[in-house]
Amino acid sequence: MRILGIGLSHCAGVALIEDGRLVFAQEEDRFSRRRRHKGWPELSLAYLLDHFDLVEEDIDLCVLSDLQTAQKYNAPIRAKRVLTVHHHLAHILSGWALTPWTDFDAVSIDGGGDFGSWQSFGRVRNRRLEFWESNCGSYLNGEKGVSRSWLKRSPARTFGAYWSVPAVLNFGMLDKGGVGGYEGKLMGLAGHGDRARFKPKEAMYDGSFSVKHKGDLHWLTTHGYPKIGDNHYVITPDGQRLTLAQVRDLRKKKHEIISEYDLNNPRDLQFAADFASHLQSMTDKAIGDLFERNFSDKTPIVVSGGTFGNVVLNGKLNERYDLFVTPPMGDEGLALGAAAWGAYLTGAREVDIPGYYLGYNAGQNKDVDVDEVAQLLNSDKVIGLVEGAMELGPRALGARSILASPRDAAANLSINERLGRVEYMPFAPVILEEEADKVLKGWSKTHVSARHMTLVYPVQEEWRDCLRGVVHVDGTVRPQVLSRLDNPVYYDILQAFFRLTGIPVLINTSFNVHGEPIVRTIDQAIAALETGRIDALVAGNQLHRRC
Ligand SMILES: [Fe+2]
Repeated sequence: MRILGIGLSHCAGVALIEDGRLVFAQEEDRFSRRRRHKGWPELSLAYLLDHFDLVEEDIDLCVLSDLQTAQKYNAPIRAKRVLTVHHHLAHILSGWALTPWTDFDAVSIDGGGDFGSWQSFGRVRNRRLEFWESNCGSYLNGEKGVSRSWLKRSPARTFGAYWSVPAVLNFGMLDKGGVGGYEGKLMGLAGHGDRARFKPKEAMYDGSFSVKHKGDLHWLTTHGYPKIGDNHYVITPDGQRLTLAQVRDLRKKKHEIISEYDLNNPRDLQFAADFASHLQSMTDKAIGDLFERNFSDKTPIVVSGGTFGNVVLNGKLNERYDLFVTPPMGDEGLALGAAAWGAYLTGAREVDIPGYYLGYNAGQNKDVDVDEVAQLLNSDKVIGLVEGAMELGPRALGARSILASPRDAAANLSINERLGRVEYMPFAPVILEEEADKVLKGWSKTHVSARHMTLVYPVQEEWRDCLRGVVHVDGTVRPQVLSRLDNPVYYDILQAFFRLTGIPVLINTSFNVHGEPIVRTIDQAIAALETGRIDALVAGNQLHRRC
């Protein structure tokens, strides 16, 4: 049986479950080259059908996420049967498909999905979804499927808006196309700030969170406005007073990035960091309270939704709970969640997951001399890696990665400059699994999420000095702990670097320039080599160097 999932929110994409096995998952923006592509995933769907030698009529069941967006498409695909699924149920099902656990509680929190939903809770026992409810009033109603009750509805501004609105309007965190999704930069800034220095009243900021009891659960509630300062106008550093509609218009039509603070100005940057520290602290506290009231620390918890892209929050939760962070936690996971809902409805109680490399395949690098690559890394060269099928989710996990030595903090600046990026958090490290307990405090082999760069860990003191390229100001890293089974070529490069230097760690950052999706093809990677973004490239079973 072939079940196709289609995600229609931003980060649209496709996923295919064939006879209970997830065989493909890919975001559309890697094909369209429009970052966080929203809408029908035409190119990735065409690739999927061609790659598996299928026509639309061969699809037994197609499930579209989201309900409201799907209404815009009338009979969009000639599958034998077409269904739709709620945005947040798809989030929960993406976690259900990927987690190894059979009994767990589930939660999704984000910037908004169907009918104003932005949080939902589920309970899974023996792989059966016993309960699911979203703040928009949608809930799992036994055999009837999903129903919606106005009585259950709890409207409030979405939690995600408290991160995205200041990121965009106050601090101008957007790409050249006017597309956001850079809340991670705000989280990175938090580590440089002091929340006590942020004075909400002086800054005209009244955003806050609390947890309220309703029905059988406690729900996260938001209060006040997400934006700092005037809520109806953006007042630019040079004194222009623009309505939010004008700002949006200028962004869309002229690609102008307008914000209230100029992060090139050290004073504004410090203000942003202090605010970010305040926001991170409110987030950690509110979601910590939410978990404490709803969940037992004896039952594992599976989290999804863009909010759990916040690795600092996840690290704190992981200290208390058995936590599985769905690797494609944001809307890039909805296609997989939709396909998983189709599998669930047709009786499946698990999905066979053959790993996390499930997208477009650019071929492997079996014959590349990994010792030669390690020597280049040891001489501070920046190496691109295009290995096999693309990763599932937003993090580069060694299929489309840029690698470098982790010893020098200045590497962050120089690599970011070459890629046109501005980051406030150092690059993430990839660490040999066999050495991870020596480098990370509190890491355990049972921490599945440490394989996907979705948690932070403090670094052991004795390692901090020689890992300055990856350790944040607060002494933490967000690692990918790598075993050879995950990705042999990537592992062998890391192992060769360890043999040469005694350091079982490399910088691993995603293979893309600012504002562009991660590279997909070898040609795109070679273009990055030719324009000097990287010094050498492992791709197409060759080591390419700059002439
Ligand atoms: Fe979402």
